[in-house]
Amino acid sequence: MRLDRFLSETTELTRSLAKRALKNGEVTLNGEPVKQASIHVDTAEDVIELNGERLALVGLRYVMLHKPEGVECTARRGLYPRAVDLIELPKADRLQPVGRLDVDTTGLLLLTDDGQWAHRITSPKHRCAKVYIAELAEPVEGAAAERAVAQIAEGVLLDDDETPTAPATLEFLSSTQASLSITEGRYHQVKRMFAALGNRVEALHRQSIGPIALPDELAPGEWRELTAEEIDRF
Ligand code: URA
Repeated sequence: MRLDRFLSETTELTRSLAKRALKNGEVTLNGEPVKQASIHVDTAEDVIELNGERLALVGLRYVMLHKPEGVECTARRGLYPRAVDLIELPKADRLQPVGRLDVDTTGLLLLTDDGQWAHRITSPKHRCAKVYIAELAEPVEGAAAERAVAQIAEGVLLDDDETPTAPATLEFLSSTQASLSITEGRYHQVKRMFAALGNRVEALHRQSIGPIALPDELAPGEWRELTAEEIDRF
């Protein structure tokens, strides 16, 4: 890999700032000052330092975030802070949310730069269950609750969709709070499923994705990297 590219991959420097750092003598290669941007380096063997700090390429990263309200899962900068802005890792904006949450939805968000791993979680083919807790505007009790559970188990047709939702599991925790487990990730799916039942979601929280539950100790806005064992669960 060219040295200027290596510098821009491993630091916050752009290619042109990397060239400037080289010109300024801030970079050493195996202990010797180096100024040539086009020189090829062996990223596994060579010791490359910027102002005395050893640089290394980042591998694949896997992160869980307790997404707070008012944070967007987009790559573009917009009206709200982005989920990746909360992750204090180098090159965090290379991380992709694994299935988006709405701005007002809270809870477990996984982020990674491993596209194949993300696909195993998001592809409906893999039937990875995502569990949401919804606070509902209209109380549901008795026979109406039983009907809703049966409808969701069978699948409901959402406006503009051609096929009904895949069988899902609805459980009422109280008359206005329900847990919904779905294996798809359609646009605003949970809110639209409750709308199909004639209700409205007032607050939504994702509790788990497959075998990973949001840990109690992770406060809104906090994140941590997944352990190797957690990564292997998918
Ligand atoms: N379904 C929704 O309606 N919103 C979310 O944020 C996630 C799932």
